[in-house]
Amino acid sequence: MKKLTIIGNWKMNKNSQETKEFLDVFNTEYLNNKEKISDSIVFGIAAPFTNLYLFNKNDKLKSVAQNFSNFSSGAYTGEISASMLKDLNVSMVVLGHSERRQYFYETDETVNLKTHQALKEGITPIVCVGETLEEYEAGKTKEVILKQLKGSLKDVNDFSKIIIAYEPVWAIGTGKTATAEIAQDVCEFIRKNTAANVTIQYGGSVSPANIQELMNQKDIDGALVGGASLKPESFIKLLTLNK
Ligand code: 13P
Repeated sequence: MKKLTIIGNWKMNKNSQETKEFLDVFNTEYLNNKEKISDSIVFGIAAPFTNLYLFNKNDKLKSVAQNFSNFSSGAYTGEISASMLKDLNVSMVVLGHSERRQYFYETDETVNLKTHQALKEGITPIVCVGETLEEYEAGKTKEVILKQLKGSLKDVNDFSKIIIAYEPVWAIGTGKTATAEIAQDVCEFIRKNTAANVTIQYGGSVSPANIQELMNQKDIDGALVGGASLKPESFIKLLTLNK
């Protein structure tokens, strides 16, 4: 089986108690389902900063951040640096999620600065791209994706060190998954415009019911999952590909 990278994005959900409860159930369920989870699946949770320390104790489940600063240290009130994340064994960071682009004014330029900071610090950036419903309906998907790729990944030379997540905005939290054909078509386009060795995830209403079909697509190497990653039983089902 090809290598798959499946990451849950918890967004702004769960306090420390709720996180501990998830981990307790997850750890038991993981042992119960271990033989159904392929060794070629890399998995983790992008949790809020304040709870990342709780993932330290689980060696299988990677701790992933949802954002970080493009600066190394200094007078940047409210920011979190790469070295602070590395203290907590964080190995990946989600960058340029559409919610950060929409509500916190992140641009391709800031995502590019953060991508280079992550590469410099040895943290794998998961760079998100995706078109809005309006752009999708106007047939502009590939034009928008190309612009985001060019801006967000400017001067990136080694694509083997990054992950690109294709997340159509119209499919996020709406229950409307892109069909496997649409997702494959856009992911193939992303590979052609970056490099053969880049890891490409699909995100947007991924669930136990549709994960297997999506992961079977040639150019999809993993998933970035919101809602269906919040319950341990459901997250386990994503990892077993619903077996
Ligand atoms: P949903 O899986 O809830 O649609 O969220 C997708 C997402 O935004 C993951 O980053």
